Amino acid sequence: MKREQLEETKAYLFKNGVKKPEIGIVLGTGLGKLVNEITIEKEIPYVEIPHFPKATVEFHSGKLIYGTLSGKKVIVMSGRFHLYEGYSLWEITYGIRTMHELGIDNLLISNAAGAVNLNYKKGDLMLIEDHLNLQGASPLAFKGVGEFGDVFADMLEPYSKTMNNKLKLIANKKEINLREGVYASVIGPQLETRAEYRMLQILKVDAVGMSTVPEVIVAKHLKLPCAAISVLTDECDPENLKPVDIPEIIEVAGKAEPKMITLFKELLKEL
Ligand code: HPA
Repeated sequence: MKREQLEETKAYLFKNGVKKPEIGIVLGTGLGKLVNEITIEKEIPYVEIPHFPKATVEFHSGKLIYGTLSGKKVIVMSGRFHLYEGYSLWEITYGIRTMHELGIDNLLISNAAGAVNLNYKKGDLMLIEDHLNLQGASPLAFKGVGEFGDVFADMLEPYSKTMNNKLKLIANKKEINLREGVYASVIGPQLETRAEYRMLQILKVDAVGMSTVPEVIVAKHLKLPCAAISVLTDECDPENLKPVDIPEIIEVAGKAEPKMITLFKELLKEL
């Protein structure tokens, strides 16, 4: 059943002009402007793609974009699915499996996250070097998962050292202050309590967010090298906690976005 779904999704996309893309990109909340840099060949709303998760209101604009960026064929997920919206982990990672079926060789992920490491400031970018899965479930825990890839997928190097090293060199050259650290995924959508932020500090987490980890686990299971960057949108100081301000989070993401676009575009040239 799942295999057939993926075959149908792939057949539909190939029929609609998506040729073999080289790199898959997932754009996080408030981070959609990379799309403006792409020479677009095809733009397909998620709602039109067979077996793609059914959109919630927030998601009416979700779409898959196929085109050229930095001389590479890319497939971009503009808008992702989250556990907090009520999707299953299969649905949340369906786009990753789809892009893998289409033939991508590398995956780049972005997200908006809170800075738990208080040396990191809002507006900073953080290269994810490792993660903590605090969502209490795995996207690989379903019957027949072995048909698709590794069951006991190892997590020795969830984030490609090769790509991360390239990103660090690029950041250096472009004078972008690229932090590095551990990202923890929570379910959300509520933000964390003071006690939870303190716990995350004790766990040596640098950034916290509500996405990315399921996608990376599936990428590893598919042996798809990936790199991920968090845009830090708020500072999670348990002793000085302020009410969340979602418009502000989106605004901070938007301001930091050009740095992320530079990193991704330059990295593509080197892949
Ligand atoms: N917690 C969880 N997710 C987030 C946060 C946060 O503080 N900021 C942005 N996404």
